[in-house]
Amino acid sequence: MAAAGASRADDLTGEAGVSESWVNEAGAGEATGFDWDDRYLLGHPAIDDTHREFVECVDALLTVPDAGLAGALDAFAAHAEAHFAQEDGWMRSTGFPAADCHIDEHAKVLASVREVQQALAEGDVDIVRALAVALQDWFPGHADYMDSALAQWMVKRSHGGAPLVFRRERARNLQGD
Ligand SMILES: [Fe+2]
Ligand SMILES: [Fe+2]
Repeated sequence: MAAAGASRADDLTGEAGVSESWVNEAGAGEATGFDWDDRYLLGHPAIDDTHREFVECVDALLTVPDAGLAGALDAFAAHAEAHFAQEDGWMRSTGFPAADCHIDEHAKVLASVREVQQALAEGDVDIVRALAVALQDWFPGHADYMDSALAQWMVKRSHGGAPLVFRRERARNLQGD
């Protein structure tokens, strides 16, 4: 059981896995879609493409009618497996220094996804929506701290420099100056 006040993102990667409080917090009708935002860009094209796909898959989990939920969850599971395997593979093959906790976080998310697939097979629709909300909460922090460090590491290895990230927001600010 998650400690009181813990965020859904903590529940997603916590030792206890999917908790009941997590489901109860995601009230019916609360979920809206998940839109891509350029602040998620990390400057490594393959990572950024994968992250766009992540956002699309989670958006589908939030917005698809109940009849399409099993398909959306299977699509998300397939995406997550490939997404995490790609990053884990890069970390291992390049000797990335902070690999262990990053790989561990991916594994915990996948374990939650497997648990939710099982629950859905038993008829629990609400838990899938709750997972989607938890994933939406989890992603920005994970991308900011863990994936951005990996993106910088990968870009430095190939080009010897930091990634160049072009964000529309920054361009607008520049135009306003
Ligand atoms: Fe990622
Ligand atoms: Fe990651």
